[in-house]
Amino acid sequence: SMNPAADTLAMATTEVDLAPVEVGQAITITWRGKPVFIRHRTPQDIADAEAVDVATLRDKQTDAARVQKPEWLVMVGVCTHLGCVPLGHQGQYNGWFCPCHGSVYDTSGRIRKGPAPTNLHVPDYTFSSDTTVTVG
Ligand code: FES
Repeated sequence: SMNPAADTLAMATTEVDLAPVEVGQAITITWRGKPVFIRHRTPQDIADAEAVDVATLRDKQTDAARVQKPEWLVMVGVCTHLGCVPLGHQGQYNGWFCPCHGSVYDTSGRIRKGPAPTNLHVPDYTFSSDTTVTVG
């Protein structure tokens, strides 16, 4: 069965301690049965994401519209093509690469190449401290 466990569904929000996640690292947590990627972006990751001309993008979003704090990118880790889980720190833009059909995402999780129609989704989340985030 692909159905998430009832106790997972019941957890509407998930609190995550980000203190151990070093610059350049990423973690995957589970929220409502789905993977959520949280990446502690490097200054280069952020600069690359901010340098993109939004007009050239398939799904036109600024990096600033996708993050609350530039150093923390929080996204649902489900490819917007057919739902595979993309691989982090991969692909031409050092963002994510989906091996299923070759979608390439940048360091803001925006679709840059391949069949996925939209950027990786950003869930609702709030920071309750500098290093504590609650997803959901
Ligand atoms: Fe990711 Fe098709 S599911 S490219």
